[in-house]
Amino acid sequence: MTLLRVQGLTAGYGPVRVLQGIDLEVNEGEIVVMLGANGAGKTTTIRAISGTIPRAGVVEFDGHGIVKATPDSIVRKGVAQVPQGRGTFPELTVEDNLRAGAYVRRRGSDVAADIDKWFAVFPRLAERREQKAGSLSGGEQQMVAIARALMSRPRLLLCDEPSLGLAPLITKELFEVIARLNREEGLSVLLVEQNANLAMHMASRVYLLEAGIVVATGSAEELSADDTIRKAYLGF
Ligand SMILES: Nc1ncnc2c1ncn2[C@@H]1O[C@H](COP(=O)(O)OP(=O)(O)OP(=O)(O)O)[C@@H](O)[C@H]1O
Ligand SMILES: [Mg+2]
Repeated sequence: MTLLRVQGLTAGYGPVRVLQGIDLEVNEGEIVVMLGANGAGKTTTIRAISGTIPRAGVVEFDGHGIVKATPDSIVRKGVAQVPQGRGTFPELTVEDNLRAGAYVRRRGSDVAADIDKWFAVFPRLAERREQKAGSLSGGEQQMVAIARALMSRPRLLLCDEPSLGLAPLITKELFEVIARLNREEGLSVLLVEQNANLAMHMASRVYLLEAGIVVATGSAEELSADDTIRKAYLGF
């Protein structure tokens, strides 16, 4: 089943149009990876889907148009975003960051249960629950950003370069968590990643972006079997 359908999506900043008509889909239970050079429009695509910048075209989630919806209501519908860079409230503790992620939900004991759940997934964060997020290491902050997004209980996680600036081992851990959530809880994921090699291992399908359009799409195997694509975009 198609969970997210994007067609002819255009968006930009002021007079500058960055996305020239993006078509992409995420089916229920898929991890879809978006690759592309710096400035290709990956972050802009994520922002246009989450509603944090003006956009036009078709964006449907679970069969309903969301192109006119506010960012808040899009989160409520089940789409959570982990922004590029560290999407935490630096002055709040780790625990309060997680609690803030549940703001779209009704308060209740299940929020506390979810916090415990994410602390079990990220034991590093449990040990630092009273620490201000701004004083955590980069990798720990990235974990907070992901756990916070998951506190809204999304069906689709939009994840923009979660590995940025992280040590290989931490990146591996993070990706293992994402793959596990996908496997065990059916979480669908749209993942932006620079490290093609790493991301393609877990991808159901891949989209290659260049200058605001999709220039190639297929399974990881299909794309890496194409010499031109492999050399030009995948760097191996
Ligand atoms: N806030 C902004 N105002 C004006 N232009 C912007 C803004 N954000 C991005 N751009 C421009 O839009 C284009 C696409 O940027 P985007 O951030 O989507 O690229 P990206 O594919 O995510 O790149 P990277 O891999 O470096 O994160 C770039 O040319 C960039 O300069
Ligand atoms: Mg980006």
